[in-house]
This record gives sequence, C-alpha cells and structure tokens, in this order.
Amino acid sequence: MGAAGDTYRALHARSLNDPEGFWAEQAKAIDWDKQPTQILDSANPPFYRWFGGGELNACHNALDRHVDGGRADQLALIYDSPVTNSKQSFTYRVLRDRVAAIAGMIAAQGVGKGDRVIIYMPMIPEAVMAMLACARLGAVHSVVFGGFAAKELASRIDDCTPKLVLTASCGVEPARIVQYKPLLDQAIEMATHKVPRVILFQRPQGEATMVAGRDLDWSEAVKDAKPAACVPVAATDPLYILYTSGTTGYPKGVVRDTGGYCVALQWSMKNLYGVKPGEVYWCASDIGWVVGHSYIVYGPLIYGATSILYEGKPVGTPDAGAFWRVISEHKAMALFTAPTAFRAIKREDPDGKLIKKYDLSHFRTLFLAGERGDPPTVEWAMTLLGVRVVDHWWQTETGWAICGNFEGLDPMPVKLGSTSVPSPGWKLDVLDENGHAMKPGEVGALAARLPLPPGTFPTLWNADERYKQGYMTEFPGYYKTGDAGFIDDDGYVSVMTRVDDVINVAGHRLSTGQIEEVLGAHNDVAECAVIGIADELKGQVPLGLLVLKTGVNRPDEEIVGDVVKMVRERIGPVAFFKSALVVQRLPKTRSGKILRGTMQKIADNQPWTMPATIEDPAVLGEIATAMKKEVT
Ligand code: COA
Ligand code: AMP
Repeated sequence: MGAAGDTYRALHARSLNDPEGFWAEQAKAIDWDKQPTQILDSANPPFYRWFGGGELNACHNALDRHVDGGRADQLALIYDSPVTNSKQSFTYRVLRDRVAAIAGMIAAQGVGKGDRVIIYMPMIPEAVMAMLACARLGAVHSVVFGGFAAKELASRIDDCTPKLVLTASCGVEPARIVQYKPLLDQAIEMATHKVPRVILFQRPQGEATMVAGRDLDWSEAVKDAKPAACVPVAATDPLYILYTSGTTGYPKGVVRDTGGYCVALQWSMKNLYGVKPGEVYWCASDIGWVVGHSYIVYGPLIYGATSILYEGKPVGTPDAGAFWRVISEHKAMALFTAPTAFRAIKREDPDGKLIKKYDLSHFRTLFLAGERGDPPTVEWAMTLLGVRVVDHWWQTETGWAICGNFEGLDPMPVKLGSTSVPSPGWKLDVLDENGHAMKPGEVGALAARLPLPPGTFPTLWNADERYKQGYMTEFPGYYKTGDAGFIDDDGYVSVMTRVDDVINVAGHRLSTGQIEEVLGAHNDVAECAVIGIADELKGQVPLGLLVLKTGVNRPDEEIVGDVVKMVRERIGPVAFFKSALVVQRLPKTRSGKILRGTMQKIADNQPWTMPATIEDPAVLGEIATAMKKEVT
C-alpha cells in the first residue's frame, strides 16, 4: 500500500498531462445522445470548449436514466421543511413524472431550446422540479435567490431576457413571510425587457394576487400539461446562467455549459464527496447559489444518490440540533454547508449537547465551503462530531471545487485552515503583482493555468469581453481567481482573502462597490466607501463610511437609517447592511484611490502601516477614532 495521497497525486498528474484522455474516460459515466468528437477545443483561447460534437440532456442524466436503470423506486429527493412543519419525498419515478409534466407546462408557453426562464422561488420541491424541467427542454434557467430585492431581479430580467418567470407566492423565513409576488411585480415593472408570462405556485403561508392576462396559476397550468420528453442539446450549450456580484451594480451572468458540467459533477460525487449511488447526501445551501445548483440538484441526481432539500436554518428551526435531526432522520452520509452555519450552532450549543441526542451513525464527512473554514470552527466540529471535516474552495465561476480532499480516493490528512489540494485539471500558482510565481508559503494572487477543467464557466452571458478582461487578462495564460492565498510545501492551498472588492457575508458573496453605488445615490452623501469588517458569526459584515455634502444638517442617525433602508430595498436583506459611520473625509492615495484595505485593518484591530502614497496621514487617525467610538 502506498502513502495517503498517492492515488490522488497520480490522478491529478494525469489530469494535467493528458487532460483529454482523462476527461474522455470520465465522460463515459454520462449518457450521451451523440458521443463527443472533440474532447477539448483550444482553438480560441481563453474560450475553451469541452466535449464538442457531443449531445446530451442533463435532465435525462439526472432522472430518466435512473428510472430506466433500476432506481425508479429509490428516493431521489427528500424535502424537509421545519419552517412549514412539513416533509415530502419523491422517488426517481415520481420526480421524473412531475418534472416531465412541468416541462410540458413550460413548453406550452412557447419555451424551447435556448430560451431563458427565470426561477424566483424558495426552497420547495417545485423549484428543483422547475430547474430540471427547463433542462429537459434545453431551456436555460436562471435562478434568483429569494433574499434579493426587486432591483436585483430587474437587472437579471434585463440581462437574460426571459420568456417566462416561474415563481411562488412566498418564502418562509423563521421570523417573517417573504412575499415574493410584490417584489416580482415591481421588478417586472422596473425592467426594460417585458416578461410575457409568469407562472406562480401558490403557497398556503401567503397567497399572491395575479395579474390578469400575464400570470397563470401553477397548479391549474400543470394539470392539463402534456408530459415533455428530454431534448438533446450540444455539450457546449448553456444549462443555466447564475448571476454573481460584479464590481458594479451590474451583475455578472456566469454561464454553465451542459456536457462538461455533467461529467465534472458525476466525477466529484464519487471521488471528492465519497458518495455511493443510493446513499443520502445533504447540501444545506440554497438553490439560489452555485453550491445549491451543483450539490442539491444536479450532482446528487446525476449520480443516482438521494438529495435533501432543507427549508430551514441551522439554529432556531427549532434549535441548534436541527442539522443533527436531519442527518439522523434521513441517514445522510455527508453534510455540505458554510462555516457560518457552524459558528451559529456553536454559539448556541458550545458543548454540542444536542449532537448526543441523535444517531449519526451514517454520517461520514462534513464538507465546508463558501468562506474560509476558520480553524476554531473546524476543530470544534471535528472534535464533537468525530468525523472528517473537509474545507473545499469554490466559486460560482468554477461550478465545483477548485481544491478539496478527495474522500473517494485516498483521503489525505486535513490541515486546519487549508482547503487541501487541487481538483483534477486545476494547476494553481501563487503570483505576485507582476505575474511571477511565488515561493511555497508566500501569500499572493491565486491563479489557475488555462484551460480550466470541464464544468467551469466558458464565458459570461452576453459578455465575452468582460469575461476576458475580468478574469483572463491580468495574468496571461491564467484564470485570475480573485482570491489570495498560499500553497505550502506539500501542495496544500490556503485561501485567505479576496483581492477585489468582494466580501463574504455569512457565506453570501457581495460586492462593496455595489453597496457603495446605493449609498452614493443618497441626496446628502457626497462620497462613501464600504468595507467588510470581521464578524464572529457571519465572517464579515459590511460597514459604510459616509462623507456628507457641505451644508447638510440632518442628524447623522437619520441619514444612516436612510442608507440602511436603501440597501435593504435595492439589494436585499441578504446584504446584511446594518451600520454606517458619518466621517469628515476618506483616506486616499495621492492619485485619489480610497484606502479601503487600510481602513479594514484598522476596523479589525489588525496591525497596519501608513501607506507611503497617502494624501493626508491625519485622515487615518480620524477614521480610527470614529470607528473606536462606534464600537464602544
Ligand atoms: N429569502 C428572503 N430573505 C432571506 C433569505 C431568503 N432565501 N435568506 C436570508 N434572508 C434574509 C434573512 O431573513 C435576514 O433578514 P433580516 O436582516 O431581516 O434578519 C437576512 O437575509 C440576512 O440573512 P443571513 O445572513 O443569511 O442570516 P440568517 O440568520 O437568515 O441565516 C445562515 C444564517 C448561516 C443559515 C445563512 O447565512 C446561511 O445558510 N449561509 C450559508 C450560505 C451558503 O450556503 N453559501 C454557499 C456556500 S455553502
Ligand atoms: P461564491 O461565488 O458565492 O461561491 O463565492 C466564492 C468566493 O467565496 C471565493 O472566491 C472565496 O473568496 C470564497 N470561498 C469559497 N470557498 C472558500 C473556502 N473554502 N475557503 C476560503 N474562501 C472560500
């Protein structure tokens, strides 16, 4: 027997030395209507294409092939909703039939291959079915997270110009009902693109009013729908668009292709997550995020596992034992969540007393992602749960993990604070600002050699140039991840921070630039900056710094109250923007760049040095005093 990691290392080396051979082999685990004729098309860098000439259908791979292949009566999806006190489960056969009917309902609206459909729905089974139904028709879905405001939804409507919006009347948060319909109506009103049709699923927790002539009731519409068959699409055709924060208020539509994605997910279920087909796998994210797309919906189903759709929180629904209850009740072998969820549990049940109430004998691995797995949280989970805790590194752009510990190969030792080693096809380097490779242990920009492996984003929706400029230009031949970190002597990768204006609030990715656009729109604000400051529970929270226009004499608290409300209304509650400080001026370099990084260090009580290029060193002292006052 070799040392731990030998199998991984050999496999990883092969994926880099012979990418086409490696991925052609993995593609055999997927059903193709037409076999690919060109595994990798490198003719037009940085636009690489996987599995050219191939045709397939993602919904067929997720459902029909399992129904036909002996899993018809196995559970495909378990819906567990403590917020509505309900549970439902669906076998592969039932799920396939429901999805085929919904696909028929969608097709009856004239939606077909290549058309876009926005899905603005909470964590209910119909949302999963809606995604798969679009895939069945070859239509491109774009799921919008429920915690966003109408304006965010409107900008997505304008960018992807959907023929149809699928929605539900409301979402259920522990403390309130989120009425989706007024937000949707407002968004449609704001958008330039006119949405011709809305189909709405009424939930008893909050029924919606319909717009005559535009809106259809889901239950009525699906009743007479003719089940639709799977439509083969090109491997390179988009399966979905998922918007993520850009540097401005204009979101970036990350495109996911069909063939590469199916192949990569299938590979990862077995080798990264160590799942066996038929086992129960639980990703406690939201279908509005990439993690939810890949590991609540497509990954587990393509692989023939049982997936859990959880409409609840780690704490308060009803208590900090909620995760253990779900794992034990459904015999989940893995849980995939964000460290913030564990910090919330740890805060309420520091000794893990609730863990002991449940039989967790099927539970093998905890997977963390979405933000850095901070060592105290990882250690706490490892000790109290007695399982391996694997932190793995992800981005909406990449569709699956860039780095991880491969539980289905020969798992390697876990190093606290590290996301372990690169996934197949990922060749990572740490680069300095001139693009030179740095030494092991040195922190720099994390960049990946092109081409990226299958499943990663081939482009941005309608924005090839933005894709090129934003990701592929600064370091020629590389994908710039936007994260900074280091690689140690054993090849383990640690992801420390973002290098751009993205902040990570409770595992949600937000752009400070986008929040600044909202603050800057306030009548009394002359100038502003937003920084992410450390927060024990959420990792980071945004803090606004406002410079008021000369002559404004309203109390600071009133203006702060206004901007807090504006961010909630324009970006959504998920931005978690709760505080801002009025200051006299902002620290800037002589060329006028706001020194956000230095302010962040001051706010977090970290050591900082006076930047040599600062315009007026006294400003940082003023900022430090204002921040201190805010904290005390
Ligand atoms: N629809 C509407 N509003 C939502 C929402 C949704 N789907 N999700 C969150 N919100 C609201 C919350 O109600 C809250 O509103 P409030 O300010 O009125 O209280 C606000 O957005 C902030 O929510 P959040 O920061 O998410 O806190 P929370 O207490 O609702 O949930 C966690 C805490 C840990 C459960 C949650 O942050 C979480 O699941 N994070 C992980 C994210 C993730 O999965 N990332 C992907 C990598 S795994
Ligand atoms: P998103 O696109 O919403 O999935 O957010 C991606 C960003 O989250 C990454 O660029 C990182 O900054 C951060 N992130 C995700 N997973 C990890 C991780 N395991 N460790 C550190 N940061 C992470």
